[in-house]
Amino acid sequence: MRLDKLLSDSGYGSRKEVKNLIKSKNVAVNGEIERDGARIIDENIDEVLVLGKPIIYEKNLYILLNKPKGYLSATKDPSAPVVTDLVELDGKRSIFPVGRLDKDTTGTMLLTDDGKMAHSLLSPKKHVDKTYYVETDIPILDINLAKNIFSEGIEMDGKKTLPAKLEVKGEREYLVTIREGKYHQVKRMFSYLGCEIIKLDRVSFAFLNCEGLSSGQWRFLKEEEILKLKELC
Ligand code: URA
Repeated sequence: MRLDKLLSDSGYGSRKEVKNLIKSKNVAVNGEIERDGARIIDENIDEVLVLGKPIIYEKNLYILLNKPKGYLSATKDPSAPVVTDLVELDGKRSIFPVGRLDKDTTGTMLLTDDGKMAHSLLSPKKHVDKTYYVETDIPILDINLAKNIFSEGIEMDGKKTLPAKLEVKGEREYLVTIREGKYHQVKRMFSYLGCEIIKLDRVSFAFLNCEGLSSGQWRFLKEEEILKLKELC
């Protein structure tokens, strides 16, 4: 594989960013500074260092997207744009979203081609926190009661939801943290309280958030973020 593609696939930035990294003599192959991004690397034999540190070649792709409104959490749909339309990748790598956000929900979304990791992160047993910013049509009437209801769980699909945390951010603005991802879960939880959600944004998924990414923008996860996710699994 080409050196620039290897670095870009391993989370060192876009092809352009990787080109600059190489140009500024920050990349060494087998102990020597390499200035040619087109150099072919054998990941099993060659040792590649970036800023003096060996890279760990990721066979899988891990991408963080700030999902805009109007996109389906799918890889194909005849009637609407899908989140993978927003991520242009070199070659024929096919990624999919980890879990689902509704078409009108925005925010933090992980995409990957690592099925094993996706499955594990979505398991309620793993207790991966997902925090949502919520705006409602009317204020919650009794906030202490609502906090108790969320932390004790609500009957949904024949089972109680796992304890969820509710914080007040404004008159009709809240943060809610859940650990599972039932269909329309947050909307149904607020509906139980008699409120309709008029804005829903996932502000974080585990330790990941969309700081620095405007709506529709994406980036590769950094090496340390991938390792941290693997630790969660
Ligand atoms: N809960 C919802 O109701 N919708 C989402 O998109 C995500 C969580």
